[in-house]
Amino acid sequence: MTLPEVVEKTEKYLLPTYGRLPLAFVRGEGCRLWDTEGKGYLDCLGGIAVCSLGHGHPKLAAAIAEQAKTLIHTSNLYHIPPQAELAEKLYHLSGGYKSFYCNSGAEANEGALKLARKWAKTNIGKERYQIITALDSFHGRTLTTITATGQPKYQKGFEPLPPGFVYVPYNDLAAAEKAVNAQTAAIMMEPIQGESGVHPATPEYLDGLRKLCDERDLVLIFDEVQTGMGRTGKLFAHEHYGVKPDLMTLAKALAGGVPMGALLANERVWDGFKPGDHASTFGGNYLACAAALAVLRIYEEDGVVENAAAVGKHLRAALESLCAECGTVSEVRGLGLMLAVEFNRSVAKEVQEHCLANGLIVNAIGENILRLAPPLILTVAEADEAAAILRQALAATADAA
Ligand SMILES: Cc1ncc(COP(=O)(O)O)c(C=O)c1O
Repeated sequence: MTLPEVVEKTEKYLLPTYGRLPLAFVRGEGCRLWDTEGKGYLDCLGGIAVCSLGHGHPKLAAAIAEQAKTLIHTSNLYHIPPQAELAEKLYHLSGGYKSFYCNSGAEANEGALKLARKWAKTNIGKERYQIITALDSFHGRTLTTITATGQPKYQKGFEPLPPGFVYVPYNDLAAAEKAVNAQTAAIMMEPIQGESGVHPATPEYLDGLRKLCDERDLVLIFDEVQTGMGRTGKLFAHEHYGVKPDLMTLAKALAGGVPMGALLANERVWDGFKPGDHASTFGGNYLACAAALAVLRIYEEDGVVENAAAVGKHLRAALESLCAECGTVSEVRGLGLMLAVEFNRSVAKEVQEHCLANGLIVNAIGENILRLAPPLILTVAEADEAAAILRQALAATADAA
């Protein structure tokens, strides 16, 4: 299909939920993508922090193909060997968390909210149901997770929203302490706010939230849907902080692009769910679990998380030198390969357009932030190539100003 044919069918047959760029990719290899016209791109977005092993990874593709030939799905009415194996692996990698599997980040968060409420009502008091989340957070697009998301633009028009959510400014411990009351069940936070522009939590904030939850018998939930699975240069972002949540959610990179989410619970809260309390038809099926097991195996064999840390440092330094050179960059933020460049003018879309024209995929968030979340297998040479294209784009937008 040509691009105009794809666009025509998209407009004719799909619900208009996405404002898409006029581009369609047909093939990928490593950190590269090719569009319908045969043009190649360096992918510094990785399917929005999903394709941590890049595209067409031979070992991941082989594991998925092998599992697809053997068995894709039976159901959770029966035991599922790769699900049990994945849960064992994640238990050890996370330091003692049991898993529940689903199909997306929103679903993982929905599960976390249900488990937190059930555990708090059962173990602390029947009146406990409120969840504290942060302003500018992002937790998904189901009715409950847009309510958890502290951004009115995602909630508008879908009211009435489920009750029981309270919002506090991010990185403001005093505000969180003040928001706790006799009805509070849990606090849910991203260790680094992703969707709103890559804003890391301060160490004091996460540490303070842990202490607050311990003192007031609350469940601490970390949404690691975007930050987890090596994105920040450690398998889970909370490892940078030395602060452990009670519940952690994963999705995005978990199965290398095969849809999968996970809710991980520690010993304090894992008996919050009893048989029948929560379920998913597809969750943790053979195909998704085989893909996630392959992702974790490749991470270990190829030192992928270590690569994310090293190349992330290199890319960040390159972006910081752009910041020093170029009057329009005001800040570079992030950890590992979860990075953002903030501009002091509304040029993000224009910079994104220049980058795309020159074969680099980046993501404009709002008017003045550019997000980079490349595959974790990015090389130093590819990071330099990305920085060089970005430098050109910044020069072009500065000239045009
Ligand atoms: C932190 C965070 N939580 C939840 C979600 C929702 O994940 P999904 O789109 O898989 O439902 C996202 C998606 O961007 C996210 O970044």
